[in-house]
Amino acid sequence: MQEVYKFLKEAETYYLATVDGDQPRVRPFGTIDIFEGKLYIQTGKSKDVSKQIQKNPKVELCAFKDGQWLRVAGKLVRDDRREPKVHMLEAFPDLKAMYSPDDDNTEVLYFEDATATFSSFTAAPKTVKF
Ligand SMILES: Cc1cc2nc3c(=O)[nH]c(=O)nc-3n(C[C@H](O)[C@H](O)[C@H](O)COP(=O)(O)O)c2cc1C
Repeated sequence: MQEVYKFLKEAETYYLATVDGDQPRVRPFGTIDIFEGKLYIQTGKSKDVSKQIQKNPKVELCAFKDGQWLRVAGKLVRDDRREPKVHMLEAFPDLKAMYSPDDDNTEVLYFEDATATFSSFTAAPKTVKF
């Protein structure tokens, strides 16, 4: 999972796909953190992306860096504890202008039953489960 975290951190931007009824939705994301051995992302509960995840937690993300792309498919679980929110905001201090661990909007979610696949045009795909 450390490898997945490192790739996403270095890529800086990944694209997170959710399911909205029978319509896929995708948007750029950048937040990524490891807390208590789990891979977390951050969003706001007021966003459509959050509402879609609460209805259907199955997501997939994709990032591209240095000729390699990474896909992570799995479920996202909301964690409403203060600690992972503080940890995330410390990792992305610019977010503090918009989010606080004590507002009722900040949301962090961790991956469950995740399959990460590293691919390239030159090597066989490599899969990691966490
Ligand atoms: C480079 C980049 C990184 C972003 N990272 C995040 C992020 O980590 N979390 C987030 O909630 N929004 C992030 N955003 C903003 C979302 O893409 C934007 O709010 C989007 O509209 C949310 O999807 P939705 O409209 O389907 O709710 C980022 C935007 C950009 C351009």
